[in-house]
Amino acid sequence: MTIISADNSENNKDNDKKKRNRNIVTKETSIDRTLDKSLRPKILSEYIGQTHLKNNLLISINAATQRQESIDHLLLYGPPGLGKTTLATIIANEMDVNIRISSAPALERPRDIVGILMGMKDGEVLFIDEIHRLNKVTEEILYPAMEDYKLDRTTGKGHSAKTIRIPIPKFTLIGATTRAGALSGPLRDRFGIVHRLEFYTIEDLSTIIKRSAKILEVTISEDGSMAIASRARGTPRIANRLLKRVRDFAQVHNEELINSDIANNALDMLKVDSYGLETTDRELLKLIIEKHNGGPVGIDTLAAALGEDSKTIEDVYEPYLLQAGFLNRTPRGRMATHFAYKHLNFKSHGYQQSLF
Ligand code: ADE
Repeated sequence: MTIISADNSENNKDNDKKKRNRNIVTKETSIDRTLDKSLRPKILSEYIGQTHLKNNLLISINAATQRQESIDHLLLYGPPGLGKTTLATIIANEMDVNIRISSAPALERPRDIVGILMGMKDGEVLFIDEIHRLNKVTEEILYPAMEDYKLDRTTGKGHSAKTIRIPIPKFTLIGATTRAGALSGPLRDRFGIVHRLEFYTIEDLSTIIKRSAKILEVTISEDGSMAIASRARGTPRIANRLLKRVRDFAQVHNEELINSDIANNALDMLKVDSYGLETTDRELLKLIIEKHNGGPVGIDTLAAALGEDSKTIEDVYEPYLLQAGFLNRTPRGRMATHFAYKHLNFKSHGYQQSLF
């Protein structure tokens, strides 16, 4: 299988800049990105966690292979870092076809998507990240492409304008999004398979960390991998980043084995707390508690005070805070839970409900 980048470089630069701007302690370097790729599983049997999704995918892949057809269009949704791109690459690998990787911001002009679709071969996979950000024109080009493997091209102008349908290869579209609700109905309806990725259990994350440690050739104990896993916010991408930072710490301290003491010291130094919360997470919760009396407070107010984009708060920070029970979303805004008060050592009003 070959991975063909279908992105244009300007948008890549934009995305890189946005990533750099995120106030996350465990910032990504280009070495990290290369390493990240080598840590990613290549086949389904190497992929840890998401058992329900994996079992269903296996059925879809085996059925399509038996029929010698391409797999149905697939939508993967869920918080960032849970493995949507990895799964798309695995699917292409398992189907033994090429994958073209793009993202909605790179598909601005109609000719971007048309060029890619015309250049695809039967069975190949087109992966579009952040698919909820596609513009209307590009989306409408995709409808007949997904449904009938045809492109509608208009020739001529005015009265002599004619629409012709050009056949294109039978490709599989894999769309990924952090916000399935932001997808238009017609686009969502054209995906035959829709799967949600869940946060990983600490045990699964620990297994992922041990696998990554082996690839990175670092020695880690069971309690060391559990210590990192418990602060990784249910997210493999974070688990692998923390592992790399802990590895740096161990190396500088001449420690050959990463045990829980080393891991905890390194993560304390990075200000990643016992629940995996980082500085921005704590600032967000403190803002609600200290300045808004626990909430409810609107997302835009929070975003302005933190100097963050409200979409970044919604997509990057909130999902874990909601899942772990630090935050509640109400029709009138966000509220800090009793559990958040307790974790941050604030005296609780007693009316917030912990989800734990
Ligand atoms: N690395 C990142 N995500 C992974 C996963 N789900 N399984 C194995 N290794 C991984």
